[in-house]
Amino acid sequence: MQGYFANRSVAERCHILKMLEAQAKAEHYSYHTPGHKRKGYDITELGYSDNLACPRGVILSAQQDIAEILGADASYLLTDGSTAGVLSMLYALKSLGCRTVSAFTASHKSFFSGCLLTGLQPVLLETPMGANGLPRKICGEDVLEGVEGADALFLTSPDYYGNVADLKAIQAMCKKHGKYLVVDGAHGGHLHYNCALYAGAYADMWVDGVHKSLPALTQGAVVSAQKPCVEALCAAVDIFRTTSPSYPIMASVEYAVKYPQNAWLEGFVHGLKKEKPYLYAGEDYTKLCVFAADGFAMEQAAIAEGIYPEFATEQLVCFYLSPAQGKEEIDRLVAFLERANEQGLLLAEKDVHSNPAPVEICQTEGYETEKTPLLEAEGRIAARVCGLFPPCLPLIRKGERITAEKIQALEKGANVFGVENGKILVHKDL
Ligand SMILES: Cc1ncc(COP(=O)(O)O)c(C=O)c1O
Repeated sequence: MQGYFANRSVAERCHILKMLEAQAKAEHYSYHTPGHKRKGYDITELGYSDNLACPRGVILSAQQDIAEILGADASYLLTDGSTAGVLSMLYALKSLGCRTVSAFTASHKSFFSGCLLTGLQPVLLETPMGANGLPRKICGEDVLEGVEGADALFLTSPDYYGNVADLKAIQAMCKKHGKYLVVDGAHGGHLHYNCALYAGAYADMWVDGVHKSLPALTQGAVVSAQKPCVEALCAAVDIFRTTSPSYPIMASVEYAVKYPQNAWLEGFVHGLKKEKPYLYAGEDYTKLCVFAADGFAMEQAAIAEGIYPEFATEQLVCFYLSPAQGKEEIDRLVAFLERANEQGLLLAEKDVHSNPAPVEICQTEGYETEKTPLLEAEGRIAARVCGLFPPCLPLIRKGERITAEKIQALEKGANVFGVENGKILVHKDL
C-alpha cells in the first residue's frame, strides 16, 4: 500500500492517508471489524478515523479540499464507484421535484437502473453517431429536444471514446429553460485540470469516476453539487453509499484528486492524435482509440505483448491512459501501434464506414414478460436493457425489437449484462 502512494509531495497533503500512516505505527489490538484484524490501512470507523456518514475529522477535511479543487459547493467521497454517484444524483433530482429526465441512449447501465429505482421517467434521445460508427461529440442542438421535453438533462461527458460534450452551450440551454444539468463524468475525473472541459464548471451535479482516469483504487469516486442541489444530494448519498466504506479507497481518492496534471502526456497524446490517421481525435487525451481492420484480433495481438487495452469492438481498440502513466509504458504502446500499422492491421479513420440498421422501439406498457433463449429471441421485444461490458452500454434497449445482428453481438461478447443462462427477458404477446 505504501508504494501505491509514491508521490510523497501529494501524500503529504492528504488528510486520510496521513492519519492512516500515523496510526499504522501506533500500538493497536483489534477487537473490531474487519475480521482480518487490522492488516495495513484497511480499518473501520474508530475513535481516530472519522466517519464517512457524519464526517467531522480527516474525512471532512478531505471532502472540503476535494470540493475546492473540483469547484463544487459540496463533494462526497464514494467507495462504491460512479454507480453510487449516478444513483444518488437521480434520487436527488426526484426529491427536487423532477419527474422526467432526458438522456442519450448510450448512457451507462446505472442511469437505467437509477430510473427504475427512483421512478424518474427517462426521455431518451438517440445518440448521434459519426460516419465512423462512433458516437460523436454532443453539441447544444443535440439536446434541445431533451431540455424542452424533460425536467432535467443527464449527460455522459467525456464518453468512452474521448468526446467531450459542448457543456458551455448545453448549460446555457438548461439555464434558459430552467432545467437541471447532471453529468456522468465516470471517465472525466482528470478533467478538472482543464476547466473548459470539466463537468464541474457547468453542471448542477456531477460524478467523477476518480478510479478510472486518476491513480485511485478501483471503486473510488466523488459526487459533487452546486448549492441548489447540495441538500438533496447529501440526503441521496446517505441512501446509496455503503455503511462500511473502505479507508484505502477513500485515502486513494483524496490522493488521486490532488495528483498533479501530466502536461507532458497531454501534449504528447494530442500531438499523436493529430499525426496518426488511425487514431480517433477525441478531445480527452486519456482515451486513445485505434481503428483496426479487426479490432478483436488487434486486441489479442496487444495482449500477446502484455499490452492490455480497456476494450475492443469490431473495428476499434481503446487504450485508456492516466496522468500516472509512465513514459516507458507510452513508448511501448506507441511502438506496438507503429508496428501494427506497418503490418497493415490498422485503418485510417476516413476508411471506416458504418451504416447501422434502424432501431425499432415499441410501447410495452401492460404487457407481461417471460424469459426466452437468446438464440430464439429474433423479432421479440426486449423487456430490459442488455449489453456488453466494458463499455456497459445498452446494445438492446427496453422495448426494442431484437435483431439477428444484436443476438450475434451478444453471443460474441465475453461479458454481457441482461442475459442470464443464455436467456433474455422479453414481452409476451408482442
Ligand atoms: C459512463 C459510465 N458511467 C458510470 C459508470 C459506473 O462506474 P463504476 O463502475 O465506477 O460504478 C461507468 C462504468 O463503466 C461508466 O462507464
